[in-house]
Amino acid sequence: MTDQTALSFASMTATGDGVAVVFAEEGAKLTPAAQDLDKKTKGLLSKAIQITAFKGKKGATVDVLAPQGTKFTRIVVVGLGKPASFTQEDWLNLGGAVRGQLTGREGATAHVYLDAIKDDVTPTDVANFALGAQLRGYSFKKYKSKPRKKAGDAANDRSLKKLVVHCADPRAAGQAYAPNRAILDGVTLTRDLVNEPANVLGPAEFAQRAKTLTKAGVQVEVMSEATLKRLGMRALLAVGQGSERPSHVVVMQWKGAGAKGGAPIAIVGKGVTFDTGGISLKGAAGMEEMKGDMAGAACVVGLMLALAERKAKVNAIGIVGLVENMPSGDAQRPGDVVEAMSGTTIEVLNTDAEGRMVLGDCLWYVQEKFKPQAVINLATLTGAVMVALGKEHAGLFSNNDELAERLTAAGKETGEKLWRLPLGPKYDKLIESKVADIKNTGGRWGGSISAAQFLQRFIKDDTPWAHLDVAGMAMSSNDSDINRSWGSGFGVRLLDQLIKDHYEGAAARKSTKAAAPKSRGRKSRAKT
Ligand code: BES
Ligand code: MN
Ligand code: ZN
Repeated sequence: MTDQTALSFASMTATGDGVAVVFAEEGAKLTPAAQDLDKKTKGLLSKAIQITAFKGKKGATVDVLAPQGTKFTRIVVVGLGKPASFTQEDWLNLGGAVRGQLTGREGATAHVYLDAIKDDVTPTDVANFALGAQLRGYSFKKYKSKPRKKAGDAANDRSLKKLVVHCADPRAAGQAYAPNRAILDGVTLTRDLVNEPANVLGPAEFAQRAKTLTKAGVQVEVMSEATLKRLGMRALLAVGQGSERPSHVVVMQWKGAGAKGGAPIAIVGKGVTFDTGGISLKGAAGMEEMKGDMAGAACVVGLMLALAERKAKVNAIGIVGLVENMPSGDAQRPGDVVEAMSGTTIEVLNTDAEGRMVLGDCLWYVQEKFKPQAVINLATLTGAVMVALGKEHAGLFSNNDELAERLTAAGKETGEKLWRLPLGPKYDKLIESKVADIKNTGGRWGGSISAAQFLQRFIKDDTPWAHLDVAGMAMSSNDSDINRSWGSGFGVRLLDQLIKDHYEGAAARKSTKAAAPKSRGRKSRAKT
């Protein structure tokens, strides 16, 4: 949706105009490309480095405007620190930091000369740099009327149009970038969905957007309220019943591993397109943020797009529960009892604890229908997870240590970090109800944990399962080198990495279906 800056890769010797970006390592040691520019400008860069006491620290910059002796309008020297020890995340963040310097004010084109002094910058490093740059380039401008009015007025448009990354092997870098381009498209779609206001994006409109994934080869089924009723998804429907807008569930299937590829991995998302709290109405302050209460679902859609575009050799199911939580004469009331699809009865103590009701039915449905080898759900489920972890980690809950460890590792690789929180029989007691099987709130303490316990009531004992509470990460998250958008797109890169590492091709064949430890399962309630 947002215009992505056109990206290309070129050789180190190709010349350019507009803005040039070159690098220096720790100790302000210029890379060969930077030295070359320094010569052409008769020592302008060395001089600027001296004046500013630039040390080449990672992300630090020196700016030179209108340099003589070249065609460039501006030269930026960017610190690499010690590139020999760079991780995937470091290259990504460096790309983001560089893109952050390039507004387009000094030229619609920028040329980045990516080299190091001794060690090679590999094609993968270049591709990660480029992904970081493109992720940072995102901004949600759809509702800004000014640029639209001035469309065609080139002089007024100051955004960066073209980014050329010069490197040792541009062909190899281009190939390495291909899967990253898919990830970029996935994250962009997720961000667009999360940023979209709720008057524009209700359950039906969200479902329509998910439907566009058919173009990428994903099978998409949109289930109507009538179908959901027939299936018995009464908990999900109860949440949506106060809204004028009908609820939907969307099932997306990517069969990249084919018929012999084995059981799918299932990813489930909370898609509350707006959460007023319902009859247990939220306060006015900050309620607008609840347009992002579908960020879990948005991540699922973005991930499915990324998997399809990069033709991932995995069988994956994406399923999202789409509802609007509104107060009205038809809305559910505190004290209501509903029977979920699984047969579990729920006492609704607080209509603002709606996400777990939506997910409960989706989780049950996906296990019944697809017998997945693992289930992962994402949800902006609780404010409490931000009290516990702030905005640095998403909460991770799992009945399976192997899955939890894999997810934690993928979090470290991508920088989309997770922190595991506990589940257990004592916490499960918090959601026991006097009148029904369970109640939808567990009291003041450990609010994220009792929410997770609620979800686990809809997970079969032998299904490896993980719940990611992304309330602090998916929207209104801290600024980072690769994101300045309100909707961050959290989770797409994380789960793409997890799938790449463990559920695709050769990695998948090694992967075993480990049983969830019984002690943490549903039946363990009786033991306490
Ligand atoms: N969508 C909210 C959680 C949330 C809050 C996400 C702030 C992002 C930012 C969720 O539906 C909710 O309202 N949770 C309640 C649960 C409570 C009523 C048991 C909460 O966290 O206060
Ligand atoms: Mn709520
Ligand atoms: Zn909610």
